[in-house]
Amino acid sequence: MSFAVKLMNWYRENGRDLPWRNTQNPYVIWLSEIILQQTRVEQGMPYFHRFLEAFPIVTKFAAAEEEEILRLWQGLGYYSRARNMHKAAKMVVDEYGGQFPTSYAEVIRLAGVGEYTAAAISSFSANEAKAVVDGNVYRVLSRYFGIDEPINGSKGKKVFAEIAGEMLDLDNAATYNQAIMDFGALQCKPKSPRCETCIFQLECVANRAGIVDKLPVKLKG
Ligand code: ADE
Repeated sequence: MSFAVKLMNWYRENGRDLPWRNTQNPYVIWLSEIILQQTRVEQGMPYFHRFLEAFPIVTKFAAAEEEEILRLWQGLGYYSRARNMHKAAKMVVDEYGGQFPTSYAEVIRLAGVGEYTAAAISSFSANEAKAVVDGNVYRVLSRYFGIDEPINGSKGKKVFAEIAGEMLDLDNAATYNQAIMDFGALQCKPKSPRCETCIFQLECVANRAGIVDKLPVKLKG
């Protein structure tokens, strides 16, 4: 069985039921992904519900006063995220007639949307075959393949983006991307990873070599 199929089987049994996973609405997914960029799921959850209640559709978000958006954002930090969201919502109104786009090429143009967020929105809303690459993905792949290339160097970023794309199940990008994020968050954790119960025990290079705690490598500074 392939890595992707095993991973998705694991996810069906063990994945978290999170509110933004029960929708293909790109606006709702965008909202959740921006909130979760530098914020843990438990902390972000009440904000997600608050924003969705205040602005159920993107046109309402675009029409809001910046002050109101910043007030709802209070406590999350990194206020540039909130300001960029307002810009992005206005772009959706001005350039896409208020229809939130779903394609990677379109969403990556929006303020505050980088490669990770564009891959998340396009795969979750339209199953576009783009692999997410975040801290979870670096950790899982560096351990599985035993790669000690620093994840924050320019070579490492390229290497991991390439491998992430090769591992992706092209027909099931949405499920695969959610699965690898949960696998990193729940099983292949930064500290105290659950290797004793891991489905990849036999193929994981880092586990076999006893170097799980050494990976991923990150350069200081
Ligand atoms: N963190 C960022 N995006 C997430 C998602 N879709 N599910 C769980 N955690 C996340």
